[in-house]
Amino acid sequence: TGKSTFVVVANRLPVDRVTAADGSTTWRRSPGGLVTALAPVMRAYDGAWVGWTGSADDAPAPFSTDDMDLVAVPLSPEEINRYYEGFSNATLWPLYHDVIVAPEYHREWWDAYRRVNERFARAAAEVADEGAVVFVQDYQLQLVPALLRQLRPDLKIGFFLHIPFPPTELFAQLPWRRQILEGLLGADLVGFQREGAADNFVSLTERYTDATAEDRRVRTADGRTVRARQFPISIDVSEITDLVSEPDVVMRSAHIRDEIGSPKHVLLGVDRLDYTKGIGHRLKAFGELLAGEDITPDEAVMVQVATPSRERVEAYQTLRDEIELQVGRMNGEYGRIGQPAVHYLHSSYERAELVSLLRTADVMVVTPLRDGMNLVAKEYVAARTDLRGALVLSEFAGAADELGDGAFLVNPHDIDGLKRTLLAAMRIEDAEAEQRMKQLREHVLTHDITRWADDFLAALIGD
Ligand code: G6P
Repeated sequence: TGKSTFVVVANRLPVDRVTAADGSTTWRRSPGGLVTALAPVMRAYDGAWVGWTGSADDAPAPFSTDDMDLVAVPLSPEEINRYYEGFSNATLWPLYHDVIVAPEYHREWWDAYRRVNERFARAAAEVADEGAVVFVQDYQLQLVPALLRQLRPDLKIGFFLHIPFPPTELFAQLPWRRQILEGLLGADLVGFQREGAADNFVSLTERYTDATAEDRRVRTADGRTVRARQFPISIDVSEITDLVSEPDVVMRSAHIRDEIGSPKHVLLGVDRLDYTKGIGHRLKAFGELLAGEDITPDEAVMVQVATPSRERVEAYQTLRDEIELQVGRMNGEYGRIGQPAVHYLHSSYERAELVSLLRTADVMVVTPLRDGMNLVAKEYVAARTDLRGALVLSEFAGAADELGDGAFLVNPHDIDGLKRTLLAAMRIEDAEAEQRMKQLREHVLTHDITRWADDFLAALIGD
């Protein structure tokens, strides 16, 4: 493996470890829109991907799969605790998602975050060829652009934040706010999901760094220009439509409906088990509809897939207990033998099974309290080649900017509004559902992940 002219830097490598019966391990590309979109670029430009394998002290030598070289950055158990579970997911994640749970500020977490960001920057500097393009991903690595520029001023550096970027009143809490902003200002182009996030970033740099700004162009103290703009991310549409066209998937979807008692309305939620997703809010609204006899448990069933996530972080353990208590109570109250009101699935599923579920759902319920984009909403739209089904979507998801016209928008904090919207989505006439789904599909099919990657890289390279 030589040097690369295109380098992606992300907390996670886009591969999963597969352990064979004899104990030997190989790597398989993990499903994910980002790697799919970037694979053709990787292939064309001797691409490399710098990231963590997901387990402690794991540092296989650089290896290649499919179209790219993989460079593993090792993390010790203590670094996983302080950099990943701590600063990334108990400081930045809650702070950037409207402080839904209180962020914790610990100096030793910040120290680990800085150290690990330095390690990622060094690994990228080492693999990047002269004048290479480096594309850094997400909140775990916000210091990498500036650290990398220090090591390698010849590089073209892009950064994309997959999660929201908060307004001043929240970001101001961060004891290391200036360092984070200066880290991002190492990039030539900083991309966000929504326009408002780019605005937040630009005004924060003016407030807390020596930079000045004009529109979406920030002038740094050392005379560089950093551009900020929204690039709403999307999904691999053809992966979904290919799966939908498999006979197994269509059969499985009919089968799922039978297995849950062929109710008139199947409501579906698919989320990582995360407190930003508003899972409790949607369960509460559904429970009140059953309690008020607006609907009966024979008519409507909810399926909630909750993929295990960040299980060693306390707020995620608390959330799991709360949701499972809530589901248990609802099933105790409204369920019957062989017929629970809520099918709660705490596990991760194969892509084909997920797409079958999307095809089963009459109402897709996406109610985050805050979400950078929410790709499940777009996946639902991509899966509905039959032009059926309704999407209930929180106005606090980035996807609401693009899907607001065809979806039923809700404020998930407004439980009465959520109940009314769920009922409206269940009672929609076929003709209206079809018209809305057409509108949604028109957008999603023409704005897939490839277009996102092309737009970002064209803006980065063509400045
Ligand atoms: C969000 C973040 C990603 C992250 C993913 C899964 O989508 O934006 O950066 O990879 O969640 O979380 P995890 O902590 O398991 O990587």
